[in-house]
Amino acid sequence: MPEVALPLTVRDLTTDDLPVVTSWAGVGPREAPERMERGEVDYLAVCPPSGVPVALGGAIYNEIPGAGTLWQLSVHPALRSCGIGTILIGALEQRIRARGLRRAELGVDEPNVRARALYERLGYVAYGRDSSTWDQVADDGSSATVTMMYTLMRKDLASGETGHV
Ligand SMILES: CC(C)(COP(=O)(O)OP(=O)(O)OC[C@H]1O[C@@H](n2cnc3c(N)ncnc32)[C@H](O)[C@@H]1OP(=O)(O)O)[C@@H](O)C(=O)NCCC(=O)NCCS
Repeated sequence: MPEVALPLTVRDLTTDDLPVVTSWAGVGPREAPERMERGEVDYLAVCPPSGVPVALGGAIYNEIPGAGTLWQLSVHPALRSCGIGTILIGALEQRIRARGLRRAELGVDEPNVRARALYERLGYVAYGRDSSTWDQVADDGSSATVTMMYTLMRKDLASGETGHV
């Protein structure tokens, strides 16, 4: 099978990236540049040499005292399972450490067993469960209340590990 080695860089997401990433990451990242300016979050883009982001994700600092909370991790669907998510998480952990914080937290939807396996591989440990509830409108206009359980996970960053495997 032919292989290509892709040099990747990690940088802050900018407002210029938003029109490009919305097609695969949705509108979630839209508020990120403004929140970065306020210092509430870091939000990173992983890019090949074209500079076009192929993975996105943030760390929130005003949600859980003493921790950075990983947020909206997303790799372009065509490039999943290649190790890019691992690079993204390692870079976010470095940003959390740079704030003087020693713990990373995240919540993973319970059906997302593959994402949970990745977080466990990177050293995250489950410590609780929570739920979120919202009204979902179907194509036919009917609406239903949806409840999603998610697992709370955390990682002690004080050990000096980079998060890369
Ligand atoms: C979760 C996600 C960010 C991981 O990024 P990634 O680049 O696929 O991760 P890596 O390649 O570094 O690691 C892949 C491993 O992570 C796990 N994994 C987690 N979610 C996965 C997914 N949706 N597809 C494939 N592997 C996934 C598996 O253990 C996988 O191992 P495998 O390659 O043997 O299947 C990415 O798959 C993604 O964007 N998924 C959709 C959005 C999502 O679920 N976000 C997380 C919300 S908590």
